[in-house]
Amino acid sequence: MLNFNFQNPTKINFGEGQIEVISKEIPLTARVLIVYGGGSIKGNGVYQQVIDALAKHTWFEFSGIEPNPKYDTLMKAQEIIKAENIDYILAVGGGSVVDGAKFIAAAALYEGNDESNDPWDILAKQQPVTKALPLGAILTLPATGSESNGNSVVTRDGTKIPFSSPLVRPLFAVLDPTVTLSLSDDQIGNGVVDAFVHTIEQYLTYSVNGKVQDRFSEGLLQTLIEEGPKALAAETKDDLEVRANIMWSATMALNGLIGAGVPQDWSTHMIGHELTGAFGIDHARTLSIVLPAVMKVKREQKRGKLLQYAERVWHITDGDEDARIDKAIALTEDFFVKMGVPVRLSDIDLGSKDIDLLVDRLEQHGMTALGEQGDITLDVSREILTKAL
Ligand code: NZQ
Ligand code: ZN
Repeated sequence: MLNFNFQNPTKINFGEGQIEVISKEIPLTARVLIVYGGGSIKGNGVYQQVIDALAKHTWFEFSGIEPNPKYDTLMKAQEIIKAENIDYILAVGGGSVVDGAKFIAAAALYEGNDESNDPWDILAKQQPVTKALPLGAILTLPATGSESNGNSVVTRDGTKIPFSSPLVRPLFAVLDPTVTLSLSDDQIGNGVVDAFVHTIEQYLTYSVNGKVQDRFSEGLLQTLIEEGPKALAAETKDDLEVRANIMWSATMALNGLIGAGVPQDWSTHMIGHELTGAFGIDHARTLSIVLPAVMKVKREQKRGKLLQYAERVWHITDGDEDARIDKAIALTEDFFVKMGVPVRLSDIDLGSKDIDLLVDRLEQHGMTALGEQGDITLDVSREILTKAL
């Protein structure tokens, strides 16, 4: 196992009816900015629960954070933060809203250096965040793990730029599975697949004998494989136990636990971000296209873990090694198809003519040595995209 430091201080409030705990989690003296997206929280009663819980607090609101949150939108929140002396941010929504709230919280107190105090530097120059407003999250879409990690991805001019700081990790998160009942099938599929791929990025590398991490990851993968399709099937769609298991899996997949002390890949995500940036494809739908191709192109480097994945996650024990790996990759694709997401570029009407652009963008963004070994060069990324045609 590799050395690691692990600390995850986000307090999780899990289960039906937990939204009301925000009345105690947020100090009564706080001046709260509720941030949300395009309005799904008004349709499913979450907004009402939030304002009921904050009846004794002083609060304001900022809405309109779009999927793949845009820098320009997030900077608009700074006006109300200054005008109303906001000192606490409450994010209510999916990963985009939580990520957006993190940038808003960091930008509000950004001091910069002698040269510049422009919050854009947090993204463009990866300037460290030294202060941020306190932040809490009510999650409505289980997928990203953003509710209990310090990561955020912001988009500007079609480029997705991540930043990360322990100071923007939410102090608390509310995970009420009932709020996920209003999700569309597309968003359910996206969420399950995103959580699945987060787990794979931290698992399907090479062995460092991290038995705890491996078995946690295998448990998450199996849970998502079992429960994901139930959240789409008419008979089990409204089953709150299904939703609860998916929700907790998605949080656990990217809260730092399973990735501590093991090598991590993230090439699927980095290549996927270019598909979102260039063509506006939903985050998870880029991953479902890229991951099977990464498994195929990197099968020699990942052989040991692919065999472990085949046996422990898919229970494949028959056949020679190559046949078992082929079967595991095919079953992964079948699972994605069951979740309603694409598995080939052709499924989203892209083809070989689009690969140059994607490779150029990877180069522009410095994504020239991806993967757990840093050996996914631009040529290998091209091979992966070609395999995904
Ligand atoms: O905006 P509203 O009206 O709320 O609608 C949203 C949005 O249109 C809707 N939605 C959310 N909860 C709902 C709901 N609709 C009905 N009922 C509910 N309960 O779903 C749509 C998509 O929401 P979004 O937040 O964009 O989805 P997701 O949670 O998948 O987040 C994707 C973003 O997270 C980033 C991605 O890059 C992308 O920008 N990621 C963040 C990560 C992190 N912070 O650690 C890691 C991930 O790998 C990912 O990169
Ligand atoms: Zn993701």
